[in-house]
Amino acid sequence: MKVLVVGGGGREHAICWKLAQSPSVSALFCAPGNAGIAQVATCIPIHATEVEKMVYWAVENSMDFVVVAPDDPLALGMVDAFEEAGIPAFGPRKNAAIIEASKAFSKELMAKYHIPTAKYRTFTSEAEAHAYIDQQGAPIVVKADGLALGKGVTVAYSTDEAHNAVHEMMSSGKFGVSGQKVVIEECMEGPEVTVLAFADGKTVVPMLSSQDHKRAFDNNLGPNTGGMGAFCPSPNYTPEIAQRCMEEIFLPTMAAMNAENRPFQGVIYFGLMLTADGPKVVEYNARFGDPETQPLLSMLDTDLMEIFQACVNGTLDQVDIRWKEGAACCLVLASGGYPLHYERGYVISGLDKVPEWAQVFHAGTKRSGKDYVTAGGRVLGITAVGDNLADAVAKSYEAAKPVQWQDMHFRTDIGKVWVD
Ligand code: AMP
Ligand code: GLY
Repeated sequence: MKVLVVGGGGREHAICWKLAQSPSVSALFCAPGNAGIAQVATCIPIHATEVEKMVYWAVENSMDFVVVAPDDPLALGMVDAFEEAGIPAFGPRKNAAIIEASKAFSKELMAKYHIPTAKYRTFTSEAEAHAYIDQQGAPIVVKADGLALGKGVTVAYSTDEAHNAVHEMMSSGKFGVSGQKVVIEECMEGPEVTVLAFADGKTVVPMLSSQDHKRAFDNNLGPNTGGMGAFCPSPNYTPEIAQRCMEEIFLPTMAAMNAENRPFQGVIYFGLMLTADGPKVVEYNARFGDPETQPLLSMLDTDLMEIFQACVNGTLDQVDIRWKEGAACCLVLASGGYPLHYERGYVISGLDKVPEWAQVFHAGTKRSGKDYVTAGGRVLGITAVGDNLADAVAKSYEAAKPVQWQDMHFRTDIGKVWVD
């Protein structure tokens, strides 16, 4: 089969790396890809959000299957466009991707179908949002409605902070359309766990539990990023909690989407908080997480292409999805200054000295002659599998040692502060 993967970050590198091992994949393409992905797939210079161009290219080049990984093209309806063109595509249709693309939609869905989540209200009037904050007090959480690259959430510990967040989102114009509507919700407390699950519209199969580290600096300090590292499985996710999540969250969410005529096919990402009242949903995403995918796919023992096809064909209940024993950790090496201002174009050294038992997933890299150079905020994800979490963490740090470039930044506590 000729397969196209849409996207070009560390997550897509992990997906391509895994698909390249599949006996049924005869040719692998990635658009736009990156310099690391080019080691396992042919990169096509089409941006992930160029829906028409992407479909045209896939038809012209007779792709048999497409995987749409990032949130933006999913929200734009790229999967629907491929279906219309007669090419099977992995990922939710536009009407299901809205579970991530609109926080207002997902909160209403959870309220209607009694799926546990933080109490909330939605506002389109800034004055009413401010009044509600005064009435509720702090701590309180302010979220922009639309996709904001994980940066549209403020957990405010004072009402001043909450008022400022609302003002920034609704009046500064920085958030564009995403900030025209805000969701204000109760602040939940407890450890966070992420569960990604494969779904075919009927069956939902959770992957190993995982956890990412969103803050830029050690001890969960500094600004929110796309994720500075991740590991799986999470020690917080006991079999008892897993069963509650299945019964109270995963199955009800699938049923709710079906009842709304929005069957979900693809990967659904459950961001969960384990509160004193039980597990609750913090957020849904309609896709693989980045960097959670890097350790997760490193632990997957089943052919990923077989799973993707089963999700599209509605036969997921017939696939035996197996995971390795132990744990995996992905340490993100980022550009100094990320997620705010950072430079690009620095030569990365030491890649050839990374031990072969670790995987180097490229996120923001480019080729410049024979060198790899930095080309984004998150640059590399050094990923290792170990006998247990401590071992996987130690191995990912060990493997990262030879790698260097000017102003390189990473957290030193990935996998160590797993109780957030
Ligand atoms: P989100 O983009 O919705 O996942 O939010 C980003 C982060 O903000 C989450 O991973 C949580 O750490 C935090 N957060 C979001 N909503 C809440 C909430 N209601 N209570 C406490 N923390 C939250
Ligand atoms: N790592 C968080 C996300 O992909 O949304």
